[in-house]
Amino acid sequence: MAISIRRIHSTFVGEVSGVDITQPLRRDEVDAIEAGMRDHGVLVFHDQPLTDQQQVEFTRNFGELEVTLAGQMAKPEQRRFQQLELGDISNLDGAEKLRSREDSRRMYALANRLWHSDASFRAVGAGYTLLHARVIPSKGGNTEFADMRAAYAALSGEDKAEVEGLICEHSIVFSREQIGMEVKSEEHAERLKPVPHRLVLDAQGTGRKSLYLSSHIGGIQGWPIPEARAFIRDLIEHATQREFVYSHEWRVNDLVMWDNRTVMHRARRFKDLQETRDLRRTSLKGVGLEMAARPLVAA
Ligand SMILES: [Fe+2]
Repeated sequence: MAISIRRIHSTFVGEVSGVDITQPLRRDEVDAIEAGMRDHGVLVFHDQPLTDQQQVEFTRNFGELEVTLAGQMAKPEQRRFQQLELGDISNLDGAEKLRSREDSRRMYALANRLWHSDASFRAVGAGYTLLHARVIPSKGGNTEFADMRAAYAALSGEDKAEVEGLICEHSIVFSREQIGMEVKSEEHAERLKPVPHRLVLDAQGTGRKSLYLSSHIGGIQGWPIPEARAFIRDLIEHATQREFVYSHEWRVNDLVMWDNRTVMHRARRFKDLQETRDLRRTSLKGVGLEMAARPLVAA
């Protein structure tokens, strides 16, 4: 079986066929997927009935798995799975029942409807995220992706000069603030502190720069906060124009992987109080995102 990737969005989405990712992969298959990720940014695999363990093992082909912040902060009895590497992207509670309207975990997850890059509130944000669909609602609940390399390329020369070298402050507190939720935790205070990230990245060294945007951004170093937030809002608006966006309509057993260093994403609404949506997430630590690891201003 030969792996092949068909482009399904003009700039950044490929559909992969000719590979069974429930089974251990050959080195050449891993290489082809990595090349596809550099080339595209989002890859879609259909009809892959992965177990939790198979998803974790497939993810390990590409690097070191990260543990989600929500998983770390939840008490063990509130978690649906004990494996901390497996993110619970569902509207179910520990007893497999739909979460109620006032459920704090449900409300916390509503911030996923804002455009973001996974874990950008960490010193090392996520590189790839992999999302696998187990149960999907009859309508709605798409995931949308926006091409941050195309968005950067479409900036004017003047705008490119302005964003080059800017350092943004990211924290989970800022994204939750936007949906009216206050995130406070003495125990996890360190994890809530803003972390700096360059706004313009070429994390993989491909020569194609991208905008590292996220609703977790609450400021730009050296700028007054209101000016920074208004500027970031404008940039996100620019970067999520329809021509840069692909909307994924889920089928059961789809696996979608994307690179948070070149793509932003958001969840879309569905009737979450009436229908189940159950997806499982794994993420990798994002090589090339740590500020100290690279010079601040690229040539
Ligand atoms: Fe996300």
